[in-house]
Amino acid sequence: MKNHIFIDKVIEPFNEQITVSSDKSLSIRCILLSSIAMGKSKIYNLLESEDVISSLKIIKKMGVNYIKKKNYIEIYGLGINGFKIKNGSKLNAGNSGTLARCVLGLCSAIKSEIKLVGDNSLSKRDFSRVIKPLQLFGVNIQSRNGLLPIKLKGTSFLRPIKYIENKGSAQIKTCIILSAINTPGITKIKAKKSRNHTELLLKYLKYPIVIKRKKFHDIIEIQGKKQIRSFNYKIPGDISSAAFFIVLTLLSKKSKLKIKEININPSRIGILTILNQMKANIKIINKKNYRGEYIGDIIIKSKKNLKSINCPAKLNSASIDEFLLIFIVAAKSKGVSSFRNLGELNKKESPRLEIAIKFLKMIGIKVLRKENNIKIFGNPNLELKGNFHIKKFLMDHRVFMLSVVAALTFGGNWRINDKNSIKTSFPQFLKIAKKLGAKIN
Ligand code: S3P
Repeated sequence: MKNHIFIDKVIEPFNEQITVSSDKSLSIRCILLSSIAMGKSKIYNLLESEDVISSLKIIKKMGVNYIKKKNYIEIYGLGINGFKIKNGSKLNAGNSGTLARCVLGLCSAIKSEIKLVGDNSLSKRDFSRVIKPLQLFGVNIQSRNGLLPIKLKGTSFLRPIKYIENKGSAQIKTCIILSAINTPGITKIKAKKSRNHTELLLKYLKYPIVIKRKKFHDIIEIQGKKQIRSFNYKIPGDISSAAFFIVLTLLSKKSKLKIKEININPSRIGILTILNQMKANIKIINKKNYRGEYIGDIIIKSKKNLKSINCPAKLNSASIDEFLLIFIVAAKSKGVSSFRNLGELNKKESPRLEIAIKFLKMIGIKVLRKENNIKIFGNPNLELKGNFHIKKFLMDHRVFMLSVVAALTFGGNWRINDKNSIKTSFPQFLKIAKKLGAKIN
């Protein structure tokens, strides 16, 4: 099957209601936590994507059984320190940074040696950010230059740590929390604000974790060596997937969209705050609390006169996966938008800051960069003609989906490579775009 698509027409006005794929962060966390819970957990609406399949394969290698039912999966957790894993086992995290980094924390007490590997994109990403805290716990971990493959041998002599996490990375924070669960005593983390699904899930499960919320960071204290009870959980839709259709609707003509049952955890919805500040009119209705998380339906309409933003860096973490989309909204807005401290964007599935700048220049938008800060000179009349070819196989699902949104709203003849990349997070993406009327070949 071909791995590229063609788009040569902008999308016609639409008025629809959709659901999107389930939340990836919550799917991976539910799998990992149920693997160390005591007994049978049931996870409904698990995301069906390659990152999730990699997560299931990894817990299977650690001796955890699961059964797939029609609309849920039963996972038979082994309790903490219950993994049965052969010495020398190879764990493959595929494309998923979240899985890879969290698994290292999960395995901090295993007695055998494991080798963690991943695909080409993951093999270029930095792991020193989790190797450092794990070494402080006393884990024996080896890698060359902080890259995969990583060899890890856990220990039953873990010691609790005090750690300052100052990148605003939920992956680092979750890795430390999972290792803290294996460790006797209290581990303390001062963590710059980032998505807090792991903490909320553990709180819901009545695990002894204390969170003190400060303005820019949280102080988290985890008591180790307590058992986690098994649980049932229904995963809501992923705001990071919904974001592509939010921006598609916003930039299209005379369209309206309702996206149902989305996780609207405040640590994830920076994009909504940013777009509303740019004069979008995005509303959340039917808001409800589910096991400590918030869920709601998002309503969005097309908007002409969007305005530039001077984006405060404190919104970066809550919109970290959505910046490519925010940038193309800035490209179509009146005025100059500025964004700061975007270094973490280059630590993703591809170096997204570099890619975004190339992309914006390719569509004729002036961009100025100073270190990790950028200014985007918007053009409200942006309409494209001519040929655009997204050639490179970056293995970055979000770059592929961004290109589709740009092609469907700005015009031009596009050939976009690397269609298969969407399998990692949002396999339904093209099907939903077509349901809204997109002509994609
Ligand atoms: C994720 C955290 C973020 C995000 C990633 C998913 C998670 O990464 O970019 O897609 O589920 O914890 P960082 O924690 O590295 O910023």
